[in-house]
Amino acid sequence: MKYLTEIDDTLKSILNLAKEQQSRAYAPYSNFKVGAAVLTQSGKVYLGCNIENASYSLTICAERVALFKAISEGHKDIKAIFVIGPQNEPISPCGACRQVILELAKDSTIYLSNSDMTKIIETNAKELLPYGFDL
Ligand code: THU
Repeated sequence: MKYLTEIDDTLKSILNLAKEQQSRAYAPYSNFKVGAAVLTQSGKVYLGCNIENASYSLTICAERVALFKAISEGHKDIKAIFVIGPQNEPISPCGACRQVILELAKDSTIYLSNSDMTKIIETNAKELLPYGFDL
């Protein structure tokens, strides 16, 4: 896990897409809007935002929406995941997302950003969830 002092233009443009997607979040209960982007090895980008529900536990996180979109379109080759949160510090994915990422995108590079993209952490699935559950 490392803090990046700069990111290249390609990464920046994908992170920007995740930021745009953040505004689509449906988060009337927490008011905590999250955006995500999933980059496949073939160069496709899938976007996601968190979608909440009055029955709170039905809420789904932004990164799982983006990842499930990519997987459901047939991509098994996830190169990178970008997540951007609303706070001043980079977002930290929840445990459920870490478990899902470990299974579906275990070799991906994961970028976690604060709201204005001035603080970005680069990490990976294993680092986010050491000794994760497996069958
Ligand atoms: N959330 C995400 O979408 N991704 C994360 O990494 C952390 C949390 C969402 C779930 C819920 O809608 C809101 O943020 C507050 O927990």
